[in-house]
Amino acid sequence: MKRLLIMGAPGAGKGTQASLIKNEYNIAHISTGDMFREAISNKTPVGLEAKVYIDNGQLVPDEITIRLVEERLKASDCKGGFLLDGYPRTIAQAQALDLMLKKLGIKLDGVINIKTDDLVLIDRITGRRSCPVCKEGYHIKSKKPTVEGVCDVCGATLIQRADDNEETVKNRLEVYHNQTAPVLDYYSKQNIVIDVDGMKDISDVFEEVKVKLGGNK
Ligand code: AP5
Repeated sequence: MKRLLIMGAPGAGKGTQASLIKNEYNIAHISTGDMFREAISNKTPVGLEAKVYIDNGQLVPDEITIRLVEERLKASDCKGGFLLDGYPRTIAQAQALDLMLKKLGIKLDGVINIKTDDLVLIDRITGRRSCPVCKEGYHIKSKKPTVEGVCDVCGATLIQRADDNEETVKNRLEVYHNQTAPVLDYYSKQNIVIDVDGMKDISDVFEEVKVKLGGNK
């Protein structure tokens, strides 16, 4: 069983690797970004509040995000292990996670850190396309669908995320360096960070993740 976090800058490849890892290790994939996007499309109170922050490339306030994750971690599909993607993004969220795990009587096995050069991130993000139905991710250069604009998995029309424009990405990168990078130091002190080279091809990054996580599915 694995209880993991995956961290990295916006566009580093967290979602791409998370979907491979969850299948390989048969664990729940919890993406706070996906949860917020779902809430936005359902026009829930959380979604309406989160949208303002997400559209500007800012973090959704801690109290909203922490509540969301606390509820999600109690779900039965997390009992066999989980991969948290995009959370925690602040020290307050990391401390809140420690408390949640303590209450559940469990510990993290590792924090996967996808290391990338900022220079590739704008291209990765502005070229990203995703399936609104099955959530499969694509890129117009590095992960093209067989038919342009159409999901290989379910045939739906691919979309571009509202926050995937150059202006918002610059804000997201600034927020990452100022508020989220310190969270890595927090976990480095616990000796549970697993660095992975995110500049390689998607499949090579995944191979490195598997080698470093070890067998033990
Ligand atoms: P979120 O959805 O988490 O966005 P993000 O962190 O900005 O990360 P991305 O989803 O943009 O990138 P990724 O690393 O998953 O990259 P991907 O695999 O898709 O959050 C969105 C917003 O929600 C935040 O800005 C914030 O407002 C809010 N939010 C979420 N969590 C929050 C929290 N905890 N607290 C407060 N607010 C929160 O890859 C990108 C592209 O590159 C794809 O097209 C992919 O095909 C391609 N690619 C991937 N890997 C490679 C590779 N190795 N080589 C070449 N291309 C690659």
